[in-house]
Amino acid sequence: ARTFNLALIPGDGIGPEVVAEAVKVLDAVTAGSDVEFAKTHFSLGAGRYLETGDVLTDDDLAAISGHDVILLGAVGGVPGDPRLKGANIERGLLLKLRFALDHYVNLRPTTIYPGVPSPLAAHGEVDFVVVREGTEGPYVGNGGSIRAGTPHEIANEVSVNTAYGVERVVRDAFARASARRKKLTLVHKTNVLTFSGGLWQRVVNEVATEFPEVAVDYLHVDAATIFLVTDPARFDVIVTDNLFGDILTDLAGAISGGIGLAASGNINPDGTFPSMFEPVHGSAPDIAGQQKADPTAAILSVALLLDHLGLAAQAVRVREAVVADIAARDGSPRTTEQIGDAIVATIAAPALETSH
Ligand code: NAD
Ligand code: IPM
Ligand code: MN
Repeated sequence: ARTFNLALIPGDGIGPEVVAEAVKVLDAVTAGSDVEFAKTHFSLGAGRYLETGDVLTDDDLAAISGHDVILLGAVGGVPGDPRLKGANIERGLLLKLRFALDHYVNLRPTTIYPGVPSPLAAHGEVDFVVVREGTEGPYVGNGGSIRAGTPHEIANEVSVNTAYGVERVVRDAFARASARRKKLTLVHKTNVLTFSGGLWQRVVNEVATEFPEVAVDYLHVDAATIFLVTDPARFDVIVTDNLFGDILTDLAGAISGGIGLAASGNINPDGTFPSMFEPVHGSAPDIAGQQKADPTAAILSVALLLDHLGLAAQAVRVREAVVADIAARDGSPRTTEQIGDAIVATIAAPALETSH
């Protein structure tokens, strides 16, 4: 038997609800096979912080780093909760994991599945991935305020972009485009940001010479939001910086039938550190604890996790079960658990047939 060590971080709000269903699916797709997941639960997030004052201890980080792979639900409390100082959970936990584990490829695929109630009237076949840089940009924390709280306050946040960091994520995006429909779109803001027409565009031009089969184009981020709504079928691979990628992928989730369907992987392609898979959405305090969350994003994140571990056949079974579930939706409300159970039932069914 092949055993993978899985770190589970259910987190806050709907995180534990969707992770419970994702784990059921993982168990179903590995049941009776030679693949096994040994799971360790980590209690982390706003809940743990409010109880103990810990965000992510060195021991937590070391223990998580020792795993093969990570599945995270969502972390973060109610936005604006005065007991949570600023961005301490998001920065001190989620971003700390992404940075410490060098998750420089934040992979966020979008597919409009058959039968999905997408707000787009006519969209053709939509299947693209956003390769969002995960360790740099305005996210690094290179900012602050002086004369804070006075009428003379000066606040700034400097976007950090290194040639090394841009090149490695751009090369990864080209490789993915080469294995797909061979189109890469750089999304940035070269008309305003002084470095992006330099560093980002130059690196794309240079790496393009190694991938002559990939067609390259460029969109300003504002225009990219137009085409995501009016012509999303034009996209194959989008490569972009950390902040633009964050914003574009919530929009991509919304156009593809809802943020409850959008999966992601925080990938360390070098394999030096464990990669981390999580839905694109957050802890959704507005629906938490009510079994209203769609667990599909977490379940599709399990498919990305399986792909990452080289378990392609299992990933396909998860995706096929999700596609079947989405196609069968008729608009009547289901609980988080009912959606998980329906997907598990589809996964379990063919295995029963073949064993008889
Ligand atoms: P959110 O994604 O949690 O919620 C936005 C909207 O989408 C809400 O109306 C919510 O009900 C809905 N939604 C989200 N997931 C859903 C699902 N699976 N099924 C159905 N509806 C769903 O974004 P927010 O409200 O801006 O953030 C809430 C908290 O989550 C904040 O603390 C934020 O920092 C944090 N957050 C964490 C992550 C993460 O852990 N990866 C990601 C985004 C936001
Ligand atoms: C996401 C989230 C995070 C991000 C926040 C919570 C730090 O919005 O995973 O998309 O901005 O990356
Ligand atoms: Mn986001």
